Amino acid sequence: MWPTLASLYQRMAAKRMFSRWSHDYEQEVAENAYSAADEVARAAIPHLAASRMSNPLIADIGIGTGLLAQQIFDSMPCRIAGLDFSEDMMASCAGRGITELLIKCDVGTAPWPLEKNAYDMAVSAGLCEYLTPPMLRHFLNESHKVLKKGGAMIFTYLPLKQGDKAIKLWRGHSGTYLVCAVDPADMEDFLKVSGFSLLEHSAPFKGCVFHDGSSYDYRLIKALKN
Ligand SMILES: C[S@@+](CC[C@H](N)C(=O)[O-])C[C@H]1O[C@@H](n2cnc3c(N)ncnc32)[C@H](O)[C@@H]1O
Repeated sequence: MWPTLASLYQRMAAKRMFSRWSHDYEQEVAENAYSAADEVARAAIPHLAASRMSNPLIADIGIGTGLLAQQIFDSMPCRIAGLDFSEDMMASCAGRGITELLIKCDVGTAPWPLEKNAYDMAVSAGLCEYLTPPMLRHFLNESHKVLKKGGAMIFTYLPLKQGDKAIKLWRGHSGTYLVCAVDPADMEDFLKVSGFSLLEHSAPFKGCVFHDGSSYDYRLIKALKN
């Protein structure tokens, strides 16, 4: 029962928070040394280059204002589809003119409105901490559904630290929402069950450092659809 309630709460709370945050999101994440998007780009771009695909089709999940998508777009000719549930975040992204599709979707609960078995790569930066466990499993299953066989999935998540809680209430100046962390061993199991082979599970890196000195210590996953 609680996972359903937590997911219902989170859909409302995170959407409201991003709607308030969207106008100064990029300035604030720059001040907080946000590097999750850069790290995903750093893993995604060489993978795409090595595969020598022409004009690959890439899905950016939780695309936000397009910080990650822009880096991939700048690196090679490609087609990018973005999903996000915040119209305000997507409005900034639309202004970049880099996406072929930009669709409003709750990626943790709704079927993704993307063609099945069509995408060469799915990327996601700074999203998974907003997904409760059932939403995360949905995210992995839907990624599997839209990727081609052998397609890569690259994303960041917050690893659960020993003695810490998997779901915490966060009170920020833009609103209150749940921050979700995942046990790294569970993450590897979820990937396997969802039909992925793990290629890389990075060491923790400081992906965001807040004014009080606390940080988001992300890990990065790179996996291939079986
Ligand atoms: C921290 S931002 C990251 C944006 C972008 N990927 C980046 O690295 O700058 C998280 C994004 O995920 C979106 N998001 C969070 N939960 C979501 C959900 N359940 N469905 C769709 N989008 C979601 C938010 O609206 C926001 O744009």
